[in-house]
Amino acid sequence: MVNYSPRSAELFLNTEKRRRKLEDAFSFGNHESNCFLWRLDSWNSGEQLIESSRSQEMARQGWVFLLLAILVCSTACATAVQGTHIAQDLGQQANTSLALLGRTPPMGWNSWNQYSCNVTEDIVKKTADALVSTGLQKLGYTYVNIDDCWAEPERNHTTGMLQARTSTFPSGIKALADYVHSKGMKLGIYSDAGTNTCEGQPGSLFHEALDAATFASWEVDYLKYDNCHNLSLPLKLRYKKMSMALRHVQRPIFFSLCEWGLEEPATWAPLLGNSWRTTADINDTWSSICYNADHNDKWAHFAKPGGWNDPDMLEIGNGALTEDESIAHFSLWALMKAPLLVGNDVTHMDNRTLAILGNKEVIEVNQDALAVQGKKVRKSGPNNKLEVWAGPLAKRDKWVILLFNRIDHESHMVKVDWHDLGLSNNATCTIRDLWEHKDLPGTWTGSFEAHVKPHAVKMYIFTEINSIK
Ligand code: GLA
Repeated sequence: MVNYSPRSAELFLNTEKRRRKLEDAFSFGNHESNCFLWRLDSWNSGEQLIESSRSQEMARQGWVFLLLAILVCSTACATAVQGTHIAQDLGQQANTSLALLGRTPPMGWNSWNQYSCNVTEDIVKKTADALVSTGLQKLGYTYVNIDDCWAEPERNHTTGMLQARTSTFPSGIKALADYVHSKGMKLGIYSDAGTNTCEGQPGSLFHEALDAATFASWEVDYLKYDNCHNLSLPLKLRYKKMSMALRHVQRPIFFSLCEWGLEEPATWAPLLGNSWRTTADINDTWSSICYNADHNDKWAHFAKPGGWNDPDMLEIGNGALTEDESIAHFSLWALMKAPLLVGNDVTHMDNRTLAILGNKEVIEVNQDALAVQGKKVRKSGPNNKLEVWAGPLAKRDKWVILLFNRIDHESHMVKVDWHDLGLSNNATCTIRDLWEHKDLPGTWTGSFEAHVKPHAVKMYIFTEINSIK
């Protein structure tokens, strides 16, 4: 058996300190306020790293971008100069308006995984209706996000604005936003930090201010910003430009960076937006779920209120995953504080899919106020494929624990030792099963183990009942 606990020490070292800060923050006053968020921001160890590298990095990129732009054309030159200023300005602007959004990971729906380029206004409206009628909206799924393929292939020749595809979005995006808002939800849209999106509609590169203003005028609430057709211009600067443009519109718009984890976005994107993709595109296979979970895990300590690691949208209900795999997928995403953006047809959902996406106790883990991304703390068993993932929760002495069997065809006992969690060996815990919705009888001291089916998890909340404070 290979023990993996050095990482758990790192994970849990400052948990009590963090919880005390959270309690301070709540007693500080209204936790909806900026002050609350800024105090939470100050916990993040990655922040200092970002702050110290930011000036040098931005100056270097500004110069590179300027030189490249001179070579490209005079229009690009003007944009690049503006971009350099943006990079400098961000020093003062970081963590202001954007910090108000995404205090917990965003929840909602996105069109891509199920509909790809076949999304229509009708699908979006019916999805909004279904989120309400299934009860998912009440559980927190509030963003209704249109992905690629919503726009005409040409901008408006007079105004230069992006325009909704008349064949599929005949009423336009503003009318759709009104509809979604009338259901108590928010509308998300998609664009690209390149000349075109991945599917070829016009991108926002060199049009950032106009497009941000357009989205705001349509009362859009969320922007997913992709990375195709980018002319190989410096990535961070292209994202900073849209971030800056969004800060200048009179509307809070959640900014979701989608550069596929290429330039370690967790280390710089917290200054620019509210979430950042850490991986390549997910697909509806078990190996893709595991791959994205592993890659997202690496950046755990950068997650914080207002800024989340994004291992991509959920594939539950899209046909290929077994029920156990779907439960594992949802549990991992919840524990990792990932955005919970469902990617299935919610207008035709079977009861099992709804029960998974609607597991309130698991959603509460994702939306927990402590906002610490849980991570892998132990690997053991054949090929190291029995894992323990864990994270602290806001309520004193509570931890979320995932026992995960990645082995293909065999059930196994999976064990967690208290030292994997940074708990003293003689601490005693009660245990609640979040998928069975029941407390296990008895108490545990030192370790716990359970039988886990192949490609499956068990998910628990441990409560320490004899801790010495
Ligand atoms: C990229 C993104 C996907 C999706 C498609 C749309 O591949 O990573 O999530 O938005 O583009 O074209």
